[in-house]
Amino acid sequence: MARITLGVSGGVGAYKAVEVARGLQKQGHEVIAVMTEAAQRFVGPLTFEAITRHRVITDQFEPGLNANVEHIAIASDTALLLVAPATANIISKFANGMADDFLSSLYLATTAPVMLAPSMNVNMLAHEAVQRNLATLRARGVHVVEPGEGYLACGWIGKGRLAEPDQIVAAVQQLLQPSGRLSGRRVLVTAGPTYEDLDPVRFIGNRSSGRMGFAIAAEATRRGAQVTLVAGPTTVEPPPVAELVRVRRAVEMHAAVVGRMDGRAPFDAIIMAAAVADYAPAATVAQKIVKTDRDLALTLARTPDILADVGRMLPETHRRSVLVGFAAESEDLVARADAKRVRKHADFIVANNVLEPGAGFDVETNVVTIVGPEGAEPLAKRSKADVAAAILDRVERLISARG
Ligand code: PMT
Repeated sequence: MARITLGVSGGVGAYKAVEVARGLQKQGHEVIAVMTEAAQRFVGPLTFEAITRHRVITDQFEPGLNANVEHIAIASDTALLLVAPATANIISKFANGMADDFLSSLYLATTAPVMLAPSMNVNMLAHEAVQRNLATLRARGVHVVEPGEGYLACGWIGKGRLAEPDQIVAAVQQLLQPSGRLSGRRVLVTAGPTYEDLDPVRFIGNRSSGRMGFAIAAEATRRGAQVTLVAGPTTVEPPPVAELVRVRRAVEMHAAVVGRMDGRAPFDAIIMAAAVADYAPAATVAQKIVKTDRDLALTLARTPDILADVGRMLPETHRRSVLVGFAAESEDLVARADAKRVRKHADFIVANNVLEPGAGFDVETNVVTIVGPEGAEPLAKRSKADVAAAILDRVERLISARG
């Protein structure tokens, strides 16, 4: 097990860092906590000392620390520098090479991998300066655990909340001990519905809970893959993954997926379980549509087909990636799924008849037929976790066949 340095900077998420420390210990790691001055205003060092059973480092110039130049000593024997929460300030210091406290000096001194779990107000996170600093750090190989979305301590709603402790611990595990048959592989999964807004209060959506895609993401992570999960709006909690991207509309899901098919390391597998709207209101009205006595006709416009676009792109960019689509049908299951496989250039299609009991939307089980070039393989009803395992077994075979 590894020695991990947990940097805690001054954000309200600092209290969750205590859970992160405990979670890392449960995995058998030794944790050394380093707190910035601002962090100590949110949580006392004693809490971390009691949890980690190590002295907490709070001051670069504390008497007694300098005989052995402590930030150099820690820098050289840590397996990972994890900063949770990482504020805009510490991210800026790391990106710009400032070394005016213990944590920022440690960042410059260590050659260990570095992982940041940012946490801040939604507008701060979106600010060009913060995004540029994060991009600089990512380009240097720093790992970033994406912040969550929701109600923020500042009263705003949006992206910026510190990722959940178990998600951070899973990302650490993934980095330090990649194991399993998909270890070192990158997998992208889409999950959940899309919501297409009509006006500020109404939308067109569907009944997808995200469970099927989440089960695939969880199983791929368990097998050691680095998973990017692009998820539509769901109330079911997504599993801990390396990168969680939340989207709402089909165009946003399209941008999130296609935008990741760039010069970065290619995905070994792309699995699209999301129920993406085929049509969206041609225009979103800024004000609530007012009810009248007459009927209302809506004009719907086609949304981009993400699977088809990726299928078109892969032969040029990522020839070895395995592409898996789903098909939600209510009749002619195999014929329609096979037509989708050919039209969208997928390696295989996981088809479910959504009228069948225990299959498809918003249930814990699924009944699927896997449709590939060699024919159709029906699988009896089973949990979505077991369907995910069957899909990934097939993905693994294709990955190894392609070398
Ligand atoms: O989320 P759950 O509640 O667990 O439900 C699981 C599920 C029923 C959503 C899942 O098993 C499933 O069938 N997902 C695909 C649903 C769907 O949109 O099927 P489709 O036949 O309309 O689309 C075919 C494929 O093209 C799918 O891989 C879909 O992600 C993709 N697609 C569709 C439309 C579009 N505009 N872009 C796409 O990429």
